[in-house]
Amino acid sequence: MILRPYGVDDGPATLEVFLRAIRVTAAQDYSPEQVAAWASDEIDPAGWAARRRASRTQVAEVDGRVVGFTDVDEHGYVDMLFVDPASARQGVATALLDWAVTTARELGADELSTHASLTARPFFEKHGFVVVEEHQPVLRGVTLRNFVMRRALDLPGD
Ligand SMILES: CC(C)(COP(=O)(O)OP(=O)(O)OC[C@H]1O[C@@H](n2cnc3c(N)ncnc32)[C@H](O)[C@@H]1OP(=O)(O)O)[C@@H](O)C(=O)NCCC(=O)NCCS
Repeated sequence: MILRPYGVDDGPATLEVFLRAIRVTAAQDYSPEQVAAWASDEIDPAGWAARRRASRTQVAEVDGRVVGFTDVDEHGYVDMLFVDPASARQGVATALLDWAVTTARELGADELSTHASLTARPFFEKHGFVVVEEHQPVLRGVTLRNFVMRRALDLPGD
């Protein structure tokens, strides 16, 4: 596996990973109605690509195929962390989060934070994040459930 910055041609592959991660992996924790609202067929590919380009996105690639991606901003906020179900539980998200930690430090952030799904919560807890708030965002008219989670950038033993 290699990690590299998002390239101009990565829009379709990252969108596919996003949709599959929700429709297969997160579908274990969310209802079909919630999955349809989150991984919507209405996501505009051009808008998606523009947002990824603007978001300091990093992709994980295996044999030339995008299998996951994340991002981080100067405050240490991780907006996206998605791994293709075919590559689940192989350490892809862990490698991407390590990149986010290093990058957030370089950017001068004090902490890492995210809005974690029900599905991602155990992953983030394993990596030292704690829940500070529960949210019920409404997406395309459907209520979902996620958690604001935070962790210090430097953890004992890191
Ligand atoms: C959450 C997600 C990114 C994890 O990706 P991943 O590459 O499979 O994670 P890793 O292989 O690095 O997992 C490392 C550890 O985290 C924990 N973990 C990961 N997924 C877990 C799960 N579904 N349930 C419990 N623990 C989990 C485990 O301790 C795992 O170690 P192990 O496999 O040795 O037991 C992935 O499941 C995903 O894309 N989910 C759907 C989309 C989503 O909810 N994204 C986050 C939006 S906030």
